[in-house]
Amino acid sequence: MSLVEVKDLVYIYGENTPFCKTALDHVFLTLEKGGIKAIIGHTGSGKSTLIQHLNALLTPNSGTVYFEGQNVNESKEVSYQIRFRVGLCFQYPEYQLFENTVYQDIAFGPKNMGLNEQQIDAAVQKAASYVGITPDLFQQSPFDLSGGQKRRIAMAGVMAMDPDLLILDEPTAGLDPRGRNQILSFIRDYKERSGKTVLIVSHSMDDVAECADEVIVVNDGKIAMQGSVREVFSRSEELSKMGLTVPETTRIIERLRAEGYDLPAGIFTVEQAAQAIYHFLKGGGAD
Ligand SMILES: Nc1ncnc2c1ncn2[C@@H]1O[C@H](COP(=O)(O)OP(=O)(O)O)[C@@H](O)[C@H]1O
Ligand SMILES: [Mg+2]
Repeated sequence: MSLVEVKDLVYIYGENTPFCKTALDHVFLTLEKGGIKAIIGHTGSGKSTLIQHLNALLTPNSGTVYFEGQNVNESKEVSYQIRFRVGLCFQYPEYQLFENTVYQDIAFGPKNMGLNEQQIDAAVQKAASYVGITPDLFQQSPFDLSGGQKRRIAMAGVMAMDPDLLILDEPTAGLDPRGRNQILSFIRDYKERSGKTVLIVSHSMDDVAECADEVIVVNDGKIAMQGSVREVFSRSEELSKMGLTVPETTRIIERLRAEGYDLPAGIFTVEQAAQAIYHFLKGGGAD
């Protein structure tokens, strides 16, 4: 059974008003368990609207969303339970912290799940460790911490519910390169250590190249592509028509290839590029 199945989903904002907007237009999507998946698309393409259906925060105008075979909108109880199993971390989650201490903020979800104090504590410790928040920060007010720390605390709050699917909407938005690299590495670590499925939403092809196994391209409220990073990035012409460009690293390597350098195709990250260039130079020296 697939982890997520979206069948013929239509969602319209402000239906029957002059501002009505079809944000999702007959979407079909299947996600299997495991790995890091990325939803990519231009601003306004419908990414955030789509993911809010996966944990029943939004109710479709038509169509059905299944999580492990269960219709997430079947009843109020099902929708409520689904929110613990599909953890959703909104874009700029640091603005949604509200408790007095870091500990209480991370503990909010597990508390709502009805766990006992010991279980809550274990969940908080583990989630904090996923995002590099050390226990010496637990009694501080989240409002005294840096923006990057606040974002990580908000992420930990969702991870603490131990969801089967963790969804992060634009987790690197607005971060400097260092903060971005840090967040991406925490996400990869989380996937390794928890073994849970992760879905990130991004409009950065570089982010996707660095951490995703599978890519879903959303364009104008529809699924335009779904496949491995390699498959999707090889369709750069179609992507650019959707306002998406393949990573800068890929473009540099493609340019070198065009100029006759014997480098492999399908290079997406700086690390891969460095390896390829190293091998090329080494090979060149041995000739
Ligand atoms: N609350 C809302 N009311 C009306 N229109 C909205 C609302 N939220 C999003 N939209 C519109 O729905 C479309 C999809 O938005 P969204 O899902 O936020 O896209 P993305 O996350 O890809 O940027 C856009 O045209 C956007 O303007
Ligand atoms: Mg969005």
